[in-house]
Amino acid sequence: MAQPRVGRVVRVAGPIVEGEGIEGIEMGEVVYVGYEQLLGEVVRISGGRFSAQVYEDTEGLRPGEPIVATGRPFVVELGPGLLASVIDGIGRPLKMIEERMGPFIGRGLRVNTLPRDRRWEYRPLVKRGDELGPGDVFGVVQETPLVEHRLMVPPEVHGVVVDAAPEGSYAVDEPLVTLDAGGSKVELTMKQEWPARRPRPYAERLPCKTPLITGQRVIDTLFPVAKGGTVAIPGGFGTGKTVTLHKISMYSDSKIVVYIGCGERGNEVAEMLEGFSELVDPATGRPIMERSVIIANTSNMPVSAREASIHIGATIAEYYRDQGYDVTLIADSTSRWAEALREVGSRLGELPVEEGYPAYLPDSIARFYERAGRVKALGRPERFGSLTIIGAVSPPGGDFSEPVTVYTLRFVGCMWALDTELAYRRHFPAINWMRSFSRYAEEVEKWWSENVSPEFARYRRKALQILSLASEIESIASIVGESALPDEQRLVLLAAEVLREGFLRQVALRGEDTFCEPVKQFWLLKLMVDFFDKAYELVRSRVPAEEIASLPAVHVMQRVKEDERGVEAVRELYERVMRDLKGLAEKYGVSGGGRE
Ligand SMILES: Nc1ncnc2c1ncn2[C@@H]1O[C@H](COP(=O)(O)OP(=O)(O)OP(=O)(O)O)[C@@H](O)[C@H]1O
Ligand SMILES: [Mg+2]
Repeated sequence: MAQPRVGRVVRVAGPIVEGEGIEGIEMGEVVYVGYEQLLGEVVRISGGRFSAQVYEDTEGLRPGEPIVATGRPFVVELGPGLLASVIDGIGRPLKMIEERMGPFIGRGLRVNTLPRDRRWEYRPLVKRGDELGPGDVFGVVQETPLVEHRLMVPPEVHGVVVDAAPEGSYAVDEPLVTLDAGGSKVELTMKQEWPARRPRPYAERLPCKTPLITGQRVIDTLFPVAKGGTVAIPGGFGTGKTVTLHKISMYSDSKIVVYIGCGERGNEVAEMLEGFSELVDPATGRPIMERSVIIANTSNMPVSAREASIHIGATIAEYYRDQGYDVTLIADSTSRWAEALREVGSRLGELPVEEGYPAYLPDSIARFYERAGRVKALGRPERFGSLTIIGAVSPPGGDFSEPVTVYTLRFVGCMWALDTELAYRRHFPAINWMRSFSRYAEEVEKWWSENVSPEFARYRRKALQILSLASEIESIASIVGESALPDEQRLVLLAAEVLREGFLRQVALRGEDTFCEPVKQFWLLKLMVDFFDKAYELVRSRVPAEEIASLPAVHVMQRVKEDERGVEAVRELYERVMRDLKGLAEKYGVSGGGRE
């Protein structure tokens, strides 16, 4: 390890501290600033001086105080103990901080991310003489009832096992395996470190073709995200970003959730933690904390810590991906992170480009989302993992043309556009089906075809057509009045209404409709689209649209999603709707309407 070198503070500007007197200081190097040893990271070097971004409050720090350079980058501790924990923006567990200092975090407090006093039941998977390389799994630990933690050889290490600890209980820093790495000895423990800003390596990047099932129909059916994909969820104040993200944490079929709370208001963090600790994994009945890591930026930390938290979160998420798990990383909200970039940029005297953001804003956003993907992990046994990144964006005034939204949309594969108007009408999730998009829709079609129905893709497209046609007709109707519309067009409006109410709207926070399994999503879609097709034939044969609209089954279609009998109820209703339409066809003596 490099010798510590000491310089001194020249100038303090909020979270940015200028220093001098350290030869060979490097970008990204961790420094301890002042008598209180505040944690900082070098973000600029020019001439004999350097600037560090400091992650703790710099109030009271004076020129002349010492700065110690560590020769090391900003790293994250990885190992068992991350799950079910809540850490702050620089990786300190909030619980331990509180135990030591009460609710107010003092400055210069160093706390390990992974507790050292906790012991884990370790099961070795290697023996003396085995040859190990990067990413090889050498043992496992049941980290929580939901997750087996696979202990991996760090990415840059290989050698032959010369000593292997037996099964038993160990702390994270006790040596478990000793490797002879070409003459030098390397000790492996449960804990490893990785530089937060550097993406972790993998063997191979793979295409993303399996959908992340969230149980939210508008997402899974219309705007799906693939495991390993990226999503932006922009929306104005109170449009449902946080609720949507919570639902995904709770219901999506990913093994691990890393949740970064980048709040603005102080009580937001407390609210988030409270909300989160109450959530239960519906599949297992266990608290979802047992498969989650929460990173909470507390309000008494400077904005620069928000910036760090994004990278810490991504590194932790990649680490579980490398174990062979599907991981979802959620950032709520990335706008708060971008604001941190803006503040730091302006303190550094960077030239602001758009709305005060530094020129590297798009680059920073791109680098964050690029950490998503589905990969074959390094090492043996063969493991496949994915990292899906979902970022909320809070554009001021809900205006999607501001820089953070614009750049984010350039780099993500999917957008769930939250709509103030829909939220106001309490149509939740307030995902605007005309503005949202997903580039994964075609990629995941095969999965739907193989696991649900080969007809799924056709129904999906048809539903989107109906919705888009309806929105055109609505704008005409707003001028000429709905009664002036021809019957065919009124039927389109009716079908769109059925889809909106019976399919897209999914308000429930408990009960049958909180999670909709894929096969039920398909049957609801089929019900509504086939209804439209058959009804359309009738209308063209001069059956009045009015008659169709007044069928009692049409109203049931909008509520059947809540029927406790699930997909059975939908199938039954399907038969009934088809029968009713056939009845109408007979009444008017026309062909068509209803199957068989
Ligand atoms: N899917 C949903 N089902 C039912 N109600 C919802 C849903 N989504 C949002 N809401 C309602 O909208 C309110 C605001 O949602 P939320 O806090 O998620 O908005 P936000 O976009 O995160 O707001 P902010 O901009 O303040 O962060 C919720 O308290 C809830 O009443
Ligand atoms: Mg929110």
